[in-house]
Amino acid sequence: MCDEALAALGLRPGGCYVDATFGRGGHAARIHAALEGSGRLHLFDQDPEAIAVARARYGEAANVRIHAANFASLAQALADDVGRVDGILIDLGVSSPQLDNAERGFSFSHDGPLDMRMNPSAGQSAAEWLAQAESDDIADVLWRFGDERNSRRIARRIVETRQTAPLTRTRELAELIAKVPGPRSKHHHPATRSFQAIRIHINGEMSALEAALPQAVEALAPAGRLVVISFHSLEDRMVKRYLRNEGSADAPRIKVLKKQFPSDAECAVNPRARSAMLRSAERLP
Ligand SMILES: C[S@@+](CC[C@H](N)C(=O)[O-])C[C@H]1O[C@@H](n2cnc3c(N)ncnc32)[C@H](O)[C@@H]1O
Repeated sequence: MCDEALAALGLRPGGCYVDATFGRGGHAARIHAALEGSGRLHLFDQDPEAIAVARARYGEAANVRIHAANFASLAQALADDVGRVDGILIDLGVSSPQLDNAERGFSFSHDGPLDMRMNPSAGQSAAEWLAQAESDDIADVLWRFGDERNSRRIARRIVETRQTAPLTRTRELAELIAKVPGPRSKHHHPATRSFQAIRIHINGEMSALEAALPQAVEALAPAGRLVVISFHSLEDRMVKRYLRNEGSADAPRIKVLKKQFPSDAECAVNPRARSAMLRSAERLP
């Protein structure tokens, strides 16, 4: 949804913009080009590999600030620019390199260490969490963040299995889940929902978004735009509710703009785009 996101940001040379989720910098490159060497671009990512790419590309650029940080601390990092930002883009979820690199432990289709942290120096890995979490807590995560109908059975099997040996590899977990009897989707690997749920939990993705939304609105200048791309209905619901409440308050701070979906052409080229949803809002004077 690159074109839609950039159009929704209303880019102009000389403006101040934030890409809160740099990834590999696809969106950032287009924003940077639109600035035509002026203005300011703040780049955030919590993944040190993404930050290394940002530094290699923009380390010398006078109008770019790079923040190796969680966007949950957006306001603190923006400091002097709070209240003066013309556009903020939050493109949620994991990047393709995170999913494709087996060593990051996000993927059930490549064997790797069971990690799943976007920032490997923060918090517990998936293996550490699964080694000690209560069965009910594991089941709740699988149900809440993955809509996994087999959540209780999978959680019980994880707890039984770890009594013999800890789960340390993505393939072990994917095979364990595939062997648990229960309802199955014809279209997805049986571990799809559980991996997504564990990743969302391990990275505190819902709480980071909840913390970032008010800071983002606060950081915008009058007529500044907030654009959020989400891939999960829970995230989209959180964004929708937040924007709707802010937009309909007694003294509204934003005007909610039109919701957008990826085009059929984009979905044909990039199947991961199929579940994307874009919501945006404009800061009122
Ligand atoms: C879908 S990718 C972004 C892709 C990017 N728009 C591009 O064009 O390449 C999401 C990125 O956001 C980062 N990320 C996710 N949650 C984050 C958070 N709470 N704080 C900072 N970065 C985060 C991930 O590490 C990942 O690199």
